Amino acid sequence: MLTGIIEGIPAHVRLSTDDLRQALARRRLGAGRGARMGFEQDQVRITGGVVQGETIGSPVSIEIANTEWPKWSTVMSADPIDPEVLAGQARGEALTRPRPGHADLAGMQKYDFGEARPILERASARETAIRVALGEVARQYLRQGLGISLLSHVVAIGGIEAAPTSPSFENLAAIDADPVRCFDPQASARMQELITTTTDGGDTLGGVVEVLIWGVPPGLGSHIAAARRLDARLAAGLISIPAIKGVEIGDGFELAPSLGSAAHDPMVFDGGRIRRTTNRAGGIEGGMSNGEVIRLRIAMKPIPTVPQALASVDISTGGPAPAHHQRSDICAVPAAGVVAEAMAALVIAEAAIEKFGGDTLGDVRAAVQGYRVRLDAAGMAGSW
Ligand SMILES: Cc1cc2nc3c(=O)[nH]c(=O)nc-3n(C[C@H](O)[C@H](O)[C@H](O)COP(=O)(O)O)c2cc1C
Repeated sequence: MLTGIIEGIPAHVRLSTDDLRQALARRRLGAGRGARMGFEQDQVRITGGVVQGETIGSPVSIEIANTEWPKWSTVMSADPIDPEVLAGQARGEALTRPRPGHADLAGMQKYDFGEARPILERASARETAIRVALGEVARQYLRQGLGISLLSHVVAIGGIEAAPTSPSFENLAAIDADPVRCFDPQASARMQELITTTTDGGDTLGGVVEVLIWGVPPGLGSHIAAARRLDARLAAGLISIPAIKGVEIGDGFELAPSLGSAAHDPMVFDGGRIRRTTNRAGGIEGGMSNGEVIRLRIAMKPIPTVPQALASVDISTGGPAPAHHQRSDICAVPAAGVVAEAMAALVIAEAAIEKFGGDTLGDVRAAVQGYRVRLDAAGMAGSW
């Protein structure tokens, strides 16, 4: 069972259990043959904060049950189970061969367990399902209150890269319809082929996902304190996703070797509005959104539960042993993109709530409109 709460969402945001079901179904897209995500089914329930399809201003709480749970209710019981009953459970077998690339060994060392079960159940990326559900609440608030939309798309799996074309929000349905959520059909076909041959070879894959966010007003986040910087908050949110090992904002690493004269986004007045001729910064300057499209990339390492089993040790014998193996995804890059959308939505929503406040959706819209009027009056309106 997963549970989660999101605070600060104003009253009158339309939200239904169906929205959450659809968001969770998107997390399973691209899971591929034999994937772990393909057989775990989510049973989602809104347990508070929403009445008759609208938020009421109190925290929104969500619960996701997993259809796999009943099989584990004895082994993972909160109350002690008779050791004889436990001994008869194949699922209760001690996992003493920690998997490299997982929380297994460090968790056993830290929490003093002789086996990995109490660690790996909590460390499992299964928890990202609740992030996706909470992210959907944030997404609805952003869309209905501020007109913000966002999507993710896979730009690389293994060594195969998509053509460098950027989708618009209208392309979301096409991206979701693609088996690996890639916007380039030719690259997608090669990625799918690579996943098949990698599955057959008993190995796993990682990749890169881009997140694009449209309609973000300038001034979310702040330069005044490290913890309030929007780039820092987005980076923390994204890198907190299991297996994400790199986050890039705008042109990121590509900017390092370029000259300053070619690395930034010149400003021009165009019909009384300030426009940028490029968006290398990816929509964030000085720790604040600058009104341009926010552009983020995340790098996912290959799934660490490798079917051909990595070399490890057996804590019970003190000798070498292949790492414990359990059913696992081969490539979770498309799913990680959906989780990244959720994390980005949660961070942007938190920053928007800070800036615009509001007890009701109407209050939020009025505050956003007031900000537009102020920027216009000051001659500082931009792309937003
Ligand atoms: C959506 C998603 C699905 C994942 N599925 C698996 C999986 O089936 N098997 C696995 O070994 N790792 C999977 N991972 C990655 C591990 O959870 C992660 O590598 C592990 O918890 C160690 O954390 P770290 O890689 O951040 O150090 C998945 C990650 C995500 C985001």
